[in-house]
Amino acid sequence: MQEFHAQTIIEPFRVRSVEPIQFTTFAERQQKLAAAGYNPFLLRAEDVLIDMLTDSGTGAMSSRQWAGMIASDESYAGAASFYKFEAAVQDITGFKHVIPTHQGRAAENILFHSIAKPGDIIPNNTHFDTTRAHVENVGAIPRDLVISEGRQPRLIHPFKGNMDIAQLEALVAEHHERIPAIMLTVTNNSGGGQPVSMANVRAVSEVARRYGIPFFIDACRFAENAWFIKTREDGYADKTPLEIAREMFRYADGCTMSAKKDGMANIGGFLAVNDDDLALRCRNLEILTEGFPTYGGMAGYDLEAIAQGLYEALDPHYLRYRIRSIAYLGDKLTAAGVPIIQPTGGHAVYIDAGELLPHIPPLQYPAWAFNNALYLLGGVRGVEIGTVMFGMQPDGQEKAAAMELVRLAFPRRAYTQSHVDYLAEVILAAYQQRQQIGGYQLVWQSPVLRHFTARLAPIAAPN
Ligand code: F0G
Repeated sequence: MQEFHAQTIIEPFRVRSVEPIQFTTFAERQQKLAAAGYNPFLLRAEDVLIDMLTDSGTGAMSSRQWAGMIASDESYAGAASFYKFEAAVQDITGFKHVIPTHQGRAAENILFHSIAKPGDIIPNNTHFDTTRAHVENVGAIPRDLVISEGRQPRLIHPFKGNMDIAQLEALVAEHHERIPAIMLTVTNNSGGGQPVSMANVRAVSEVARRYGIPFFIDACRFAENAWFIKTREDGYADKTPLEIAREMFRYADGCTMSAKKDGMANIGGFLAVNDDDLALRCRNLEILTEGFPTYGGMAGYDLEAIAQGLYEALDPHYLRYRIRSIAYLGDKLTAAGVPIIQPTGGHAVYIDAGELLPHIPPLQYPAWAFNNALYLLGGVRGVEIGTVMFGMQPDGQEKAAAMELVRLAFPRRAYTQSHVDYLAEVILAAYQQRQQIGGYQLVWQSPVLRHFTARLAPIAAPN
């Protein structure tokens, strides 16, 4: 017999504990969506069949993670679970000081309060919303410098999350005394979950070191990024994701992390830095806002789940399945003519609703309308990344967002291939009925982050 290599990429786990999902009728969903003010954020999760709202904190944990949680140390100070967590983060990132936080944005809050002041500038490939908000919260200015290819939805490029090095050089040359840190988000969530190449990480690091500016990685999806480097960048095919991740972090001076993504946990995060003085300032603030530095807003069992989860996220069998399952949905949609951001990224498929629903003007929220159609037709919940999310300007005027996207983010290890087949069927049904999808108007909105709580009404009721 000859060795055989199967083509089918399977889920690299078997299921030992299941959670029922709730089926509803079309009429029930019409009623539930109306009661939620046509805002999927206001639906009860139990009324959603397939929930692709976010990949953050929604993954399934492994038996080893649960075992660690049962055996956790809940001591206030110096818990064994903390030292396990610290050792895992140090082993993977190489950073000296590990500062636990309850989630990613808490790490951002501590970092920017410790390094930035009003008038400072923070360059990033693309700031995630909370990162941008924390930069602005201390009076600093976020600048997004992703390469121009990263702004073109249909263009195929292996590393659309890369920073534009020429633009970074120019900005730093002019303003270096106002730049307390350079950041790089891997993968670039706001730009479609697109990866950053090792060459780009190195180039950003060189600019930062030349000017003596600290370089931080927003590492939420570092393992997914490592897989793209392994499979797309010359010289990395034979390296493990762990080796690639270690190299990536070696070029940086620290990182912020939401362990709700590639930490494979339901809650948690950390800030890691090399600089002793910065670590001291961060820990002082941490005690004020998060808790004692050996738990930082987490239970001992959360620290255990992350210490184990970080390694599971780097398992090549897991990453192959993870990245393939996103591409699998992307391929099905592309074959049927549904416009999506190309190529598919690490954690989500982004449908281009602006292109798909040209009859709905941006101020009638085409991406919002398409996302609601997915719920009505199939009980699927994604998230609008468009004018409801970004359209409100500080002066109270409303402006069309740059893109009208529906993001379908994949919770880790939670859904199977047949769930994804179902998802594709629902999206294609909505695509086929796109002429019948009407726009929405806002009925009530809050002054900040309006998409979370807004209430809307259909302009032409979907039929
Ligand atoms: N940075 C990036 C790139 C993120 O995607 C997120 C969260 C954060 C920071 C903040 O982390 O939620 O733990 O405070 N992204 C989630 C999402 C919410 O749905 O994309 P957090």
